[in-house]
Amino acid sequence: MDNAARPAPPPGGFSARHLVSIGDLSYADAVYLLDLAACYAPFIRDGRRPVQRLEGKTQVNLFYEDSTRTNYSFELAGLKLGADVVNVQVAASSVNKGESLADTAGTLAAMGASAIVLRHKEPRAPEMLADLVPCPVINAGDGAREHPTQALLDAMTIRETLGGIERRVIAICGDVKHSRVAASSAQLFERLGAQVRFVAPEHLMPPKDQFSTIARAHSLKDGLDGADVVMALRMQFERMEGEQRQDAARGYFERFGLTHETMKLARPGAKVMHPGPMNRGVEIDGALADDPACSLILRQVFYGVPVRMACLDALATGGM
Ligand code: CP
Repeated sequence: MDNAARPAPPPGGFSARHLVSIGDLSYADAVYLLDLAACYAPFIRDGRRPVQRLEGKTQVNLFYEDSTRTNYSFELAGLKLGADVVNVQVAASSVNKGESLADTAGTLAAMGASAIVLRHKEPRAPEMLADLVPCPVINAGDGAREHPTQALLDAMTIRETLGGIERRVIAICGDVKHSRVAASSAQLFERLGAQVRFVAPEHLMPPKDQFSTIARAHSLKDGLDGADVVMALRMQFERMEGEQRQDAARGYFERFGLTHETMKLARPGAKVMHPGPMNRGVEIDGALADDPACSLILRQVFYGVPVRMACLDALATGGM
């Protein structure tokens, strides 16, 4: 992409210094990132190399939790933009000798990191790091709290598929309580003008004082009515304890599972999404997930790369 094809930065410049929460982005910053990602998408689709905006910069990927989509799309994003990308092998690092996150990140920053991408089980770990290191920190998922780049790629998928996100009805369905994806995506979708609903049994809803602007439904019949997009969430067994873990899936698919049949409760032509990884037969039927006529799941994966290119570009260069 030559510079002429790039979207103009927001008036006053790209204002975010880190991306630890979706709230770090102004409306203008978020739209700029989506526009920039739209410019990068054809490069991924056609296998071309854009201007090497991150040449000479060092991107450190620091994943303390397992990941496939986020980890490898961040790596690809940095490589496509010419960055030197370091994937820290946490299991083979001095973390095993008891080194703290702060010391590990400080060490990597001292080697000249231009950006640190962090996934960690502790909520607010990226926020803590952002106060310590002199480079931008990007949250790749912190516990059940936030996953802002997933929200951006979800918004991108809806915008590019439906031609816009404003006024679209989006039902986020499943284990909302433990979902950092739901937390970030719901905030961003609302900010971009969508109508968002949570659809879940009461025990998988977040506390009542959280997300007070978002409507809640306790059945697919109520929650999917009029929905343009239905986003299934993974049942996050690893965040549940004891009996809850054993009971979580019992009878769930019969009441809340997404299938071709239950999707008929949504608007005709409605699309289904899932951030992955999926529990097939728990929150979504495999035949629906694999049906390209209505499933956007692999499209979400595709947009993960240009969206993360846009985030790295804007944060590591200040969007200039
Ligand atoms: N959606 C998502 O965060 O997937 P990974 O855990 O594979 O990165």
